[in-house]
Amino acid sequence: MKLRESGMPAENYWETLLDADAILARFRLDAVAGAVAELGCGYGTFTLPLARRIIGSVQAFDIDGAMVDRTRERASSAGLKNVVAAQRDVLTQGYGLNDGSCAAGLLFNILHGESPVELLRETAKIVRPGGTIAVIHWRTDIPTPRGPSADIRPGPDQIMAWATFAGGMSLADGPFELPPYHYGLAFRRNHSASAI
Ligand SMILES: C[S@@+](CC[C@H](N)C(=O)[O-])C[C@H]1O[C@@H](n2cnc3c(N)ncnc32)[C@H](O)[C@@H]1O
Repeated sequence: MKLRESGMPAENYWETLLDADAILARFRLDAVAGAVAELGCGYGTFTLPLARRIIGSVQAFDIDGAMVDRTRERASSAGLKNVVAAQRDVLTQGYGLNDGSCAAGLLFNILHGESPVELLRETAKIVRPGGTIAVIHWRTDIPTPRGPSADIRPGPDQIMAWATFAGGMSLADGPFELPPYHYGLAFRRNHSASAI
């Protein structure tokens, strides 16, 4: 099921609204040596710069086949061999990755959808102990040119509460601003498997 209000404007416009490199730098994912899962890769806005930064692969998922095609095409044009993009409904099917198999999971501009707690929990499951669950979303305290409706747009406190409820992770960094329009939170996957 496609998550509510998860459609995208034109690629060129979308990519003027955020600084993907600066956002990834803030999460300090550069040294990551394992796989990184990305839920809802869209146009590959973060997939490509992430693939350039890490030693492992980016496992990018999107329910929309056109988004998967675009991400693959951009990765191929850029000569990036460590992008694995797949069409998948992560909400109903999960990631299809082994528990603890990823160094990090990205939930970027996605947690306004249905079942945010389940999405956080599924992401924590596939991230290895000590790994990172990285979240960004549109700010709620300033006007933004895009982003989900105010009634479903989560602020940092809401996401922290959902993460506590999901279990298996603890806040490691944030919330921090990601100018001009986003904020971020980094959670660390707990070592205790019993938390999930
Ligand atoms: C708002 S876009 C964000 C894209 C990207 N994360 C970014 O920030 O540039 C959300 C993406 O999630 C995808 N999506 C929506 N529901 C999904 C689901 N159930 N499983 C996987 N992807 C989904 C949409 O097709 C869309 O490409």
